[in-house]
Amino acid sequence: MATVTFDKATRIYPGGDKPAVDGLDIEVGDGEFLVLVGPSGCGKSTSLRMLAGLEDVNAGAIRIGERDVTHLPPKDRDIAMVFQNYALYPHMTVADNMGFALKIAGVNKADIRKRVEEAAKILDLTDYLARKPKALSGGQRQRVAMGRAIVREPQVFLMDEPLSNLDAKLRVQTRTQIASLQRRLGVTTVYVTHDQVEAMTMGDRVAVLKDGLLQQVDSPRNMYDRPANLFVAGFIGSPAMNLVEVPITDGGVKFGNSVVNVARDAVQAAADKGDKTVTVGVRPEHFDITSGSGASGLSKEGPEGLAVTVNVVEELGADGYVYGSAEVNGEHKDLVLRVGGREIPEKGAVLHVVPRSGETHVFATSTGERLSD
Ligand SMILES: Nc1ncnc2c1ncn2[C@@H]1O[C@H](COP(=O)(O)OP(=O)(O)OP(=O)(O)O)[C@@H](O)[C@H]1O
Ligand SMILES: [Mg+2]
Repeated sequence: MATVTFDKATRIYPGGDKPAVDGLDIEVGDGEFLVLVGPSGCGKSTSLRMLAGLEDVNAGAIRIGERDVTHLPPKDRDIAMVFQNYALYPHMTVADNMGFALKIAGVNKADIRKRVEEAAKILDLTDYLARKPKALSGGQRQRVAMGRAIVREPQVFLMDEPLSNLDAKLRVQTRTQIASLQRRLGVTTVYVTHDQVEAMTMGDRVAVLKDGLLQQVDSPRNMYDRPANLFVAGFIGSPAMNLVEVPITDGGVKFGNSVVNVARDAVQAAADKGDKTVTVGVRPEHFDITSGSGASGLSKEGPEGLAVTVNVVEELGADGYVYGSAEVNGEHKDLVLRVGGREIPEKGAVLHVVPRSGETHVFATSTGERLSD
């Protein structure tokens, strides 16, 4: 077992004008499951490939445990990688595929067999050891690829989108299997995905990358509750956080016809910078409906809050999502609200909503950085 350290690791591809990965600083704990997530092209695979030794590191260093592996060839790093396309050998049986790396390493036949059989048991592949990959389902092939990594008993597992060839349902099942397998084996794992739901459900911690730059590394809970900037706020969570640019007023910010109290210090910090607006973030589940369907807090003076016209409703049973539009400070704005399963409004209805107190996020419109605690 081992820790993994990216120490300002940088990759500039030949001919590239800016780094594909720029000063990446992450420390992965011993036995930790760390997920790298971000949009296409943000540098996830490059980061993983630097750790694997498949890509040069142009600046900074990479360590596995106390060992500086920055310039070691892949075979000397004691890692095992699972790729998106599995890269199974089509002419070999499942057992031979799984044992191949051990054979190359000169492990004796009896030991190879023992380790392959153990891995097959863990992965529920015992009945398939004699088959060729083409006679397996996608999910089974995926497990063979996992098995090939497990038998090597490496210090670190690296996985690059290992579930992307599976259909949606199998992907959900398999991600649970991989996460629990990793916990059982306790092997430090760096896992790459572009799917934020996968990242949030699998990772002990999640690292969000954008344009080669690390945006935030945190537990899924903190990532959701305290996104460090506008990018993370919009990227993590589904449906996404509502982000609304609002003018700064005395005592808070104006949201429709009500002034919403958001973190005073945050607004002050923005004003001090010379900003005229802040961007307020509200998750779909953090709106209170003051009138319309499911209203709980009708005030005597008439509806307060922001008037949202319902365009589309998505009923999910236990709850539902309302996709609506509102006029915020003279501009048309699309918003998503979560409502209870028995409070689903009609299309075309008008709801009045206010962000729940204490559940707003404040970001600097100019820099995108988080201002509220
Ligand atoms: N061999 C290469 N030569 C030059 N540029 C490359 C090379 N490989 C990747 N890049 C560039 O580096 C950046 C990061 O690529 P990378 O493959 O790490 O992204 P990614 O986050 O894994 O994306 P995806 O989700 O699409 O797999 C991209 O802009 C890409 O075009
Ligand atoms: Mg990639």
